[in-house]
Amino acid sequence: MSMKMCRLLVGLLLLASAGDSVTGRPTGCPGRCGDVDIPYPFGIGPKCSRGEGFEIACDTRNGSGDLVPTLAAASKSKPVSVTSLSVEPLPTAKVMLPVAYNCYNSSGNNID
Ligand SMILES: *[C@@H]1O[C@H](CO)[C@@H](O)[C@H](O)[C@H]1NC(C)=O
Ligand SMILES: *[C@@H]1O[C@H](CO)[C@@H](O)[C@H](O)[C@H]1NC(C)=O
Repeated sequence: MSMKMCRLLVGLLLLASAGDSVTGRPTGCPGRCGDVDIPYPFGIGPKCSRGEGFEIACDTRNGSGDLVPTLAAASKSKPVSVTSLSVEPLPTAKVMLPVAYNCYNSSGNNID
């Protein structure tokens, strides 16, 4: 039996957007998705966010019932999970991006 070891490299990307300061969230819009606060101008759905880049999708991750926020502008096939959102000094989304898989066999050689 051959042993395979894989390492998932996860990148943190900071997305910042120049913008004016905080205004109130439109009424009727949820302020949280799962464990993550969603401060305006970010929002769940187009009516609750300032614009496309600020739109957050809030869906259950496959296999579990947990609500997970993702960037709505990212492709549906490769969802970009949001780990935190902040508005000061600039509206910023911290997201998790899988960057690469490196796999090694038991003699330490990189394999596909
Ligand atoms: C989610 O789970 C369903 C049912 O188990 C499956 O049919 C579907 O392909 C899964 N979607 C993804 C993106 O893994
Ligand atoms: C590991 O991969 C290298 C390069 O493909 C190969 O030469 C070597 O035989 C492999 N070792 C094992 C234990 O599979």
